[in-house]
Amino acid sequence: MVNTISRSDIVSNLYTIVAEQRSSLVDLIWEQHYFHEKRRWSAVEMIGAINLEAVSEFDKANLWNAGRAELTTKPGADRLARLADAECRRWQERNPVLASIMQACSTWSRYWNEEESFHETTLNRLSTLLSLEPVSDETVIEFRKIFPDDDMLRTLVLLAISEITATVNYSWCASVAQDPGLKKLFKQIAADESQHMTYFISFAKALVDSKEYSPKGAFAVAHLFVREGGELYGSNRQQVEQRDSHVNWWDSIKYEMVLPDNIERKQSLIFSALRQITGIQVNSAAEVEQTWLDLVGC
Ligand SMILES: [Fe+2]
Ligand SMILES: [Fe+2]
Repeated sequence: MVNTISRSDIVSNLYTIVAEQRSSLVDLIWEQHYFHEKRRWSAVEMIGAINLEAVSEFDKANLWNAGRAELTTKPGADRLARLADAECRRWQERNPVLASIMQACSTWSRYWNEEESFHETTLNRLSTLLSLEPVSDETVIEFRKIFPDDDMLRTLVLLAISEITATVNYSWCASVAQDPGLKKLFKQIAADESQHMTYFISFAKALVDSKEYSPKGAFAVAHLFVREGGELYGSNRQQVEQRDSHVNWWDSIKYEMVLPDNIERKQSLIFSALRQITGIQVNSAAEVEQTWLDLVGC
């Protein structure tokens, strides 16, 4: 049995649904599980359907970079589970509705983590089968560093933007892949990333709807990405910050391949996410900055 409340309603009205007690946590978790199970796919079958002889050098660079990038998703999901659970307990007395939202988010992190594990292991296994440069144990351990904690709304918006970037990048990889099996794999991963984006937007919107989180947090993070030379420009930026604390996958694309920035597409998806989360419409990087400044009262 599926929930009587539609999925699109849960996505866009999560806070109200919980506030009006139309869904318990058990109902929400069932919906998460149902949707996760419905979209499952087999890594073994997906790899088996790819003709390794037909994978071009171009596709190999895409695969290799993506496999490394996916190594950073596990620490992201581990952190989200812990952070959202801590937030749940922080809000339990003051705002029990928000506490339930946080618990739903912490719980969903297990499905997110599992889906990302399919991306990581499938891509890295393909790299091994294609005899590409091995990923060392040191790299795996380095890429597993846990991100530092931040405010929950900022965290969710950052993750939504990260999924937007991944969706656009994988869609592009799918569009250029020649082998039908590889094309199917990239398309499937892009579809997963797009669903993750939807979840992050839904949770972020619920936080803003609770009125406990100001939309300024959402705009502050978006500004970091869309500004000239910002995070969206990835490893093409003139100056990539050096960090010891964690690895941002978008800073770690190694081979100068090929992957186009697709800045316009990514920006328009970020503007759409901001509108869904905060109700505020912006159409340019300059408007993101101005809105952020207005919200902080500058
Ligand atoms: Fe992924
Ligand atoms: Fe994802």
